[in-house]
Order: sequence, then structure tokens, then C-alpha cells
Amino acid sequence: MDKYKVLWFIGLSGSGKTTIAHGISERLEKIGVPSIILDGDLLRAGLNKDLGFSIEDRMENIRRAAEVAKLFVERGNMVLASFITPTEEMRNLAKQIISREKFIEIYVNSSLEECINRDSKGLYARALSGEIKDFTGIDSPFIVPKKPDLTIQTYLLSIEQSLDKIMHYLGINHIIEL
Ligand code: ADX
Repeated sequence: MDKYKVLWFIGLSGSGKTTIAHGISERLEKIGVPSIILDGDLLRAGLNKDLGFSIEDRMENIRRAAEVAKLFVERGNMVLASFITPTEEMRNLAKQIISREKFIEIYVNSSLEECINRDSKGLYARALSGEIKDFTGIDSPFIVPKKPDLTIQTYLLSIEQSLDKIMHYLGINHIIEL
């Protein structure tokens, strides 16, 4: 049970975190490894409904998410957690709650321009027009992770290549058997 980890996907809204987490979940299922997906949008629809997007509320969002992740990983699941997690302080908090050895920090690196161009949820347009305040990358900070365990450059890799890279990382670190 010790080998199970929390894969914590960090990145801008629309960078591809959720798509990658779902892809990894499917790949893990194929090799018989149980996983749980935790996602900012999903948690904010329920458990974290009372939270907004101030830095304080984001901290609390991450704290709760990390506590939930900890419960699941300790029961023998891989946890795939997708949260913008925009500051180092938030990342350190999650790491501290989950424990360093169970926490794998994955930076899903897509440029702001690309996220704005894609704008799959239409939120960037609303943030740029001033309709939504405190939007990450527009009028709320996103600090590039200093030392992620892994970086996925979604602008260079296809989804399948991104999934391959993560599965390879899990394999060479003996977290899964390929
Ligand atoms: S975090 O900063 O606290 O880690 P989280 O990942 O939970 O954020 O939620 C981000 C999602 O909330 C985005 O993908 C987007 O769909 C939605 N959202 C709504 N308002 C904002 C905002 N002001 N900033 C960022 N994301 C927002």
C-alpha cells in the first residue's frame, strides 16, 4: 500500500490537468491500479461550495483537497488531484499534509496565451472583460512551480504522449509495474 501516491497536477485553468488526470486514471485501471480523481471544479461544486478565489479561500480549498487526498492514498489508492494551486505556499501546504514521499508534483505547462485562445469554458473572455474578478493568470497570480517532479508541456506533446511520459515516470520510480 506504501507505493501509492498522490499525483498533484498544477497548472492554469484550461491547461489540460483534468484531461490528463482522466487519461491516467484509465491507464491505471487497465493495469489494475485503483485511482480516485479529485478536481477543483468538482470539489468546488460540493465540498468547497463556500469558497471563492481569494488567496485565503484558495488556500482553504487546497487544504481540504489535500486532506481528502491523504485519506484516499492511505487507504490504498492512487489519487489524481487537479487544482490550479497557484502559489508555492499552497503547494507546500498540500505536500506537508500528504507527506513529501507520497506527493508527486506535476506541472501541466501550457502558456497563458494558449489557454486564452482555447478558452474551453469561456471563462477567460469573461475575466478579460472584467466580469469575473481574481481570475488566475489575468488578475490573480500564477507562480511557475520551482521544482516540480515532472513537467508536461502540453503545447509540445499530444495527450497520448503526455500520458506516456507520466506512466514512464511512475514505472521508473517503481510506483507501478509496466
Ligand atoms: S485553486 O486556485 O483553488 O487551486 P481550483 O483548481 O480549485 O483553483 O479551481 C479552478 C477552476 O475554477 C477553474 O478551472 C475554473 O473552471 C473555475 N474558476 C472560476 N472562477 C475562477 C477564478 N477566478 N480563477 C480561477 N479559476 C476559476
